[in-house]
Amino acid sequence: MALRNILKDEDPQLRKVCRPVTEFNERLWQLLDDMAETMYAANGVGLAGPQVGILRRLFVMDVGDGLVEAINPEILSEKGEQTDQEGCLSFPEKWGYVTRPQRVKMKAQDRNGKWFILTGEDLKARCICHETDHLNGVVFLDHVTEILTTPREPRKR
Ligand code: NI
Repeated sequence: MALRNILKDEDPQLRKVCRPVTEFNERLWQLLDDMAETMYAANGVGLAGPQVGILRRLFVMDVGDGLVEAINPEILSEKGEQTDQEGCLSFPEKWGYVTRPQRVKMKAQDRNGKWFILTGEDLKARCICHETDHLNGVVFLDHVTEILTTPREPRKR
């Protein structure tokens, strides 16, 4: 396993629409291992492919209840609304309040290509939406009306 460099701020790779993952092989597994290690080392709760320069549709996430690896994720349904402070490992000096669905249902493939369904509420729903946005070149700042340069409350990214 190895730490990957996290792309920051105006890096153009953060603005690309990513392509699907088609090969479920050792190279993918290595990438997923590295992304999880990088996310934990940075004390984050999610990390998407383009943030480490891989323009493919995948992310890792751990909101405190275990690691999730999501490959070719698709949000199937959204319910309700929540507004909370958000940050991103690619924008270490910025925070902001973002309105997201309160609950989302997602389908994705695991590292072996098997499809699974995941339902998330609260922070988990927020994280699924944030990471899925990354795969479409969208970052949380696009949803923020007021950008904060210090967090108003301690918040994981
Ligand atoms: Ni992010």
